[in-house]
Order: sequence, then C-alpha cells, then structure tokens
Amino acid sequence: MRLALLLSLLLAVLGGPALAAAEAAQVQVYKTPTCGCCTKWIEHLERAGFAVTATDLPDLAAVKREHGVPAHLASCHTALVEGYVVEGHVPAADLQRLLRERPDARGLAVPGMPHGSPGMEGPRPPEPYDVLLFGADGATRVFSRHGAP
Ligand code: CU
Ligand code: CU
Repeated sequence: MRLALLLSLLLAVLGGPALAAAEAAQVQVYKTPTCGCCTKWIEHLERAGFAVTATDLPDLAAVKREHGVPAHLASCHTALVEGYVVEGHVPAADLQRLLRERPDARGLAVPGMPHGSPGMEGPRPPEPYDVLLFGADGATRVFSRHGAP
C-alpha cells in the first residue's frame, strides 16, 4: 500500500514536467545574430508556452528560399513549427490557432516589422497589421487583423 502511494507520488512529480514538455510545440527560429526584435519575439513565444530553439545565421535568404517564403512577405526572422513556416512577428495566439485549425497552407507571415506587433513594442505608436496565411503557390489571405481601428 505504502509502496504504491510512493510510486504514484513519484510518477506525479516526474511525470508533470515531462507531460508539459510533450505538449509544448517546438519552434525552430532562424535569425541574424544581432536581431533584438527577434529575441523579443522568441521571449513572447516562450511566455505563451512554446519551446523555442534559435539558430543564428549571417544571412536568411537561403532559409527563406528553401521554405518558400515569397520575397514580398519577408521579415526579420523565419521559423518552423510542426510543418508550417512562420515569417516575422506573428503573435503566439495566431500560432496556436494555426496548430489547432491546421489549414492547408505553407504558413503565416507578418511582412515587414509593424510597430506594436509582438517583439516590436516600443515608443512609436502601434500600427495596424494583418497576419497572412500563405500557400505553396504564394497566394495569401488574411488570417487575422491586429490593431485595426
Ligand atoms: Cu523584427
Ligand atoms: Cu525577428
């Protein structure tokens, strides 16, 4: 009896973190070494429960080409999560929705670096921006709108 109790306690203690880790989606981020807003975006994802691995590269053109990010959607970093590409300062909530809904698409993009997007907070007033869902053919549609009046 006491052994069983001890074992179940042990499982609860050891199993807790392991289960949490299994639930966290893994995000691989490619960024340039000096990118401050990239680091802030990574922290935003980690706060939302994502497990992030970052790789610094001197140039991201090859990564963007390899993963089919159209030039007009490009931003400061490119990330991969569960088969999707994430370009730029996409909010964690949109990533979570992407993984929940699993649309047939290549990924999400926030082109450029709009002020007020996650990782781009600062003294300048936030600007409205759209998160775009893009396909393998480069076609886009609005996935969500942020900061719109
Ligand atoms: Cu940035
Ligand atoms: Cu970035």
